[in-house]
This record gives sequence, structure tokens and C-alpha cells, in this order.
Amino acid sequence: MSNEYIVVDQSLGLCGDIQLSGAKNAVLVIMASLLLTNGKSIIKNVPNSKDVSSMIKLLETLGAKISFDAKNNILEVDTSFVDKYAVPAEIMKKMRASVLVMGSLLTRFGSVDIALPGGCVIGKRPINYHLKNFEKMGVRVSTSGDFISARTKKLEAKKLVLEYPSVGATENILMAAVCAKGTTKIVNAALEPEVLDFIDVLKKMGANIAILPAATIEIEGVETLQPIEHEVMFDRLETGSLLLAAAVTGGQIYIPQAPVYAMDIFLMKLEEMGHDIQVGADDVGVRLKATACPKAVSFKTGPYPGFPTDLQAPMMAVQCVAEGQSIIEETVFENRLLHVRELQKMGAQIKVYHNKAIITGVEELYGAPVIATDIRASCALVIAGLVAEGQTIMSGVHHWRRGYQFLEKKLCALGADVEFVTGDDEMSFFDCSNNVYKVDQK
Ligand code: UD1
Repeated sequence: MSNEYIVVDQSLGLCGDIQLSGAKNAVLVIMASLLLTNGKSIIKNVPNSKDVSSMIKLLETLGAKISFDAKNNILEVDTSFVDKYAVPAEIMKKMRASVLVMGSLLTRFGSVDIALPGGCVIGKRPINYHLKNFEKMGVRVSTSGDFISARTKKLEAKKLVLEYPSVGATENILMAAVCAKGTTKIVNAALEPEVLDFIDVLKKMGANIAILPAATIEIEGVETLQPIEHEVMFDRLETGSLLLAAAVTGGQIYIPQAPVYAMDIFLMKLEEMGHDIQVGADDVGVRLKATACPKAVSFKTGPYPGFPTDLQAPMMAVQCVAEGQSIIEETVFENRLLHVRELQKMGAQIKVYHNKAIITGVEELYGAPVIATDIRASCALVIAGLVAEGQTIMSGVHHWRRGYQFLEKKLCALGADVEFVTGDDEMSFFDCSNNVYKVDQK
């Protein structure tokens, strides 16, 4: 992996129409939830990313039969032969979303043995809300070092209150509750658009779920769930990243599939910067024409419908060259400003006070060797590289591959000069054991 990097040369005026991929944060939990069913499900619009490949391997380890048509983004998962409930540590460590098999395995087997999940290092990222609420549902959880073992004879429906609307905890509890006899309530639930897409999937399986004010999900347990066919929502985070790439380079972009209905605050901030935003019918599709003199804007991240933490880093890159001062406050993760140091290497003027970054816009950024520390930081650095004078060379690009389906190719299609330089082992990311699919890298 270490011999891979991305080279970005200054690329002003990105321009064109672009197609989106399916949402990473929706597809991973949807894949985990297929363990609730017995039979073959078909999932469409599945991004060909490294996290998807890791989740495929995880499900295969449990006994699922999987084929992935990477070219057409169609995933077929047959869960009829799933007969294991233990996930090896090396698979768990590949991504945070691996923890999402806990809820579905508890429903299927009443047992699960896993290691603590890996994922982006953007904070402590405990899973106490998941475990605490499983325990309230009648699960015995024992931990030993890195390993977690959970057992239950019967999952019990309960009223559960989340102290924070955690996306993962909401999803995991949903999967534990869908077949628990009686009524489960999740109060202060996460209602991110990806959670809603996931709830659609559970409903298609036959789950009985209602969303009540205020931020409460009510689940009436059913006996069994059926395999499904589903098309994953388009990625609002990829949308945001592409819009920012066009905005920072003074370009124009049209994204016909953009899930604008899920992007209100983000688009409002782009408009406040002075960019011209045109939204399509029914809040789908967006066109951005960049202003020549973008103004700095301030924002604070928060649970949906607040400003998405996953767009904080890319939006910061754009503030670095906007006119004036921007104050960005990260409230979701306690350690999600690692990209600041890298942006500073490119000439950005940023001061950090606890979870706040104060950015004073500069005339110009300069290309530099930088290191991506997480998925969204990788995106921020590529965006900064597009506007920086000279060449930016980014290492740590496995993060980029985890979160995006060849986003560099999409940027190139818009006129960017971005090259993913691969090592010899690159293809192994996309090799799904028995169902080998080759991806044409260049
Ligand atoms: C998901 C997304 C991630 C996004 C995040 C917030 C996926 C695969 N990932 O991550 O891209 O940035 O939502 O929108 O969907 N927390 C606890 N204890 C817990 C669980 C969470 O303290 O048991 C804390 C976390 O450390 C964090 C905050 O709650 O500070 C939010 O985390 P959460 O919403 O759970 O994020 P993820 O599900 O991990």
C-alpha cells in the first residue's frame, strides 16, 4: 500500500456533468442487514469501493455466497448458507462498519463473536451505546481485551434512549429489534438520510417500522424477514465533494442524480459563499456555477439535518482560499481536525483551538507532499491540490479507496489533473475471493 499515492496538479475551472455512485454509508449497513434474511437479495447502485470489498469478505466469512458485478454495480448476496457468527479480527479491523453485523447476527443466531472494529481514526469511537442497549434488550455482553462476545436466548423489545443520536448504534439496534416480539422504541435516534434508506430496506424485508416525532423510531417485531431487491441512494457526500471541487476551481458542474433533499445546510453555505446553485425538480439534481470571489463562511457540524461532519474537511479546504475568516466547529468527533496540519503544509492559514479551526483565507495554496489521515481528509487534500499552485502528492490513499468509487476518474472527466499511482498490490483490493472482478484502473 505504501507505494501508492495520488498526484494532483493545479486544475482550474472544472467543468461538466457527472454521474454519482451509491452512498457508502448506506450500502455497508444494508449489506450487514442481509444476514437478517435467508435467500438471495439483489442490491443495485453498489459503489465499487474498498469498504464494500471488505464487507463482501466479511459476509463470505460467515457463509454468504456473493457475486459482485462491479461494472454495473450490482451485488447479489445469498444468505441461505450463513452458518457462522464469528468474525476474525483482521476483517473487523478494516472498517468501522464491520460492527454493524452485531445486530443482525444477534437476531439470526442469538450469538456473535467479534473484535473491536477499525476505521478512520477521527476520535475514540467507542461502541458503548451499541453494547449498552443490546444489554437492555437481554443480551449478555462480555469483553476481553479487543474481543467481544454477545449471547442472548431471546431479544427483548424495549424503550431505548440514546444519549447521542449515533448512526451506527441506531442501525445496530434496529437490526436487533426487527424480530424482537413487542414494541421497541429508539428515542433520540439518528435520522441521517442513509439511515432512512436503510429503514426502507428493512421495510421491504417485511419489518414494521415507524418514525415518530421527535426523532423516535418505533419497531414492532415480526416473525421473519424476506430477501429484497433495492437500489442504494446516491451519495450526498460524494455530491458535496464534487460541488466543492468545482467551486474551489472556479468551475461549473451539473450533477443530475444529486440527493439535494438531503443537503440543505451544505448547499445554503455554498450559496452564502456566493456560488450560484440551481436545484432540480423534486430536490434531485444540482447545478453549481462558481463565483469568482468566494466569501468565507462559518459552520458547526452536527447530526442530520446539521452540517455533515463528513463534509467538514472538504469544506475547510475550500475556506482556505475564500475571502475573509471562517470558523469551523467540529462537534461530532473529538479528533477530526487532523487534515489541518496537512493543509497548513500547503500554505493554509489555520489556527486550532480545541475543536474549532479558525481559517483566514489566503490568495494561494502551494502543492506539497501531504498525508491523508482518514477518508474525508483524503478528499479535502485532493480538493486543495486542485487549486494549489504546483503539484500535490498525497500518500495514505487507502483511505480514498475505502470511501469513493474512483472519484479521481470523475474529477479527471471534469478536467482535473489527478493521477492515482498504484503499487503492484493495488488490484488485490478489488479481488473478492471466488468472485474475482477486475477493475480497469486507468
Ligand atoms: C457514521 C458514518 C460516518 C459519519 C458518522 C456521523 C457510516 C459507516 N459511518 O459513523 O461516516 O461520520 O456516522 O455522521 O455510516 N459514539 C459513542 N459511543 C457509541 C457510538 C458513537 O460515544 O457507541 C460517538 C462517536 O464517538 C462520535 C459520535 O458518537 O463522537 C457519532 O458517532 P456515530 O454517529 O455512531 O458514527 P458512526 O456510526 O461510527
